[in-house]
Amino acid sequence: MPLPWDFRPVHGPRVTLDLLRDDDLEALYAMQSDPEVCRYLLYEARSRRQVVEVLARDAEAARLENPDDYVQPAIRDEDGHFAGTMYFHLISVDDRTAEIGWILAPSAQGKGYATEAARLLLDLAFGELGLHRVYAELDPRNAASVAICERLGMRHEAHFAEHMWLKDEWTDTGIYAILEREWTADTAFQNR
Ligand SMILES: CC(C)(COP(=O)(O)OP(=O)(O)OC[C@H]1O[C@@H](n2cnc3c(N)ncnc32)[C@H](O)[C@@H]1OP(=O)(O)O)[C@@H](O)C(=O)NCCC(=O)NCCS
Repeated sequence: MPLPWDFRPVHGPRVTLDLLRDDDLEALYAMQSDPEVCRYLLYEARSRRQVVEVLARDAEAARLENPDDYVQPAIRDEDGHFAGTMYFHLISVDDRTAEIGWILAPSAQGKGYATEAARLLLDLAFGELGLHRVYAELDPRNAASVAICERLGMRHEAHFAEHMWLKDEWTDTGIYAILEREWTADTAFQNR
């Protein structure tokens, strides 16, 4: 892996990924304080103060070097408007493994932006970064998130029953994953 690796904006056909900025505060707050958006996330709807802190932290997270480093870029639409965030978390350098995640503002949902943004990160993961395995963890009730994994060709690897006590209930966890050779074969197949 070419580490340390510094995040640079990534451009797709419709979306761009770039680092969060101070002027994303209002849009990020609107998204992260929405109970519907947070329904299947590990955290509860956030206060403005929490979002200010999260934004300051995540805007600075631009380098992958050690296990647990992450980047959390904004997804921006064709007009440059904030559409959501992606999460890319380096889990292991030795095993060349990362975790991926996605959140869209309600107004940006239903347009394919998260799937496109995830494709950009998988291209990066298996291309420039030379990773071996990328996985996503989700609440299996989160059908929209499951659908993204399926569209990406990620395999359903595991279903942990009542894995976590979360938001006053036992919650299952699903694991979806894709390997470098699977992504490359898929890319070749689709001639992308
Ligand atoms: C999970 C989440 C990102 C999924 O959002 P989404 O909009 O369904 O996902 P995409 O951006 O990939 O869009 C796919 C949808 O856009 C539709 N679409 C419309 N125009 C499209 C286009 N031009 N290209 C591709 N897809 C398009 C697709 O058909 C699909 O809808 P469908 O599932 O009804 O068929 C969103 O529900 C969310 O942010 N939820 C709250 C946070 C969350 O739970 N995050 C995941 C934690 S694991």
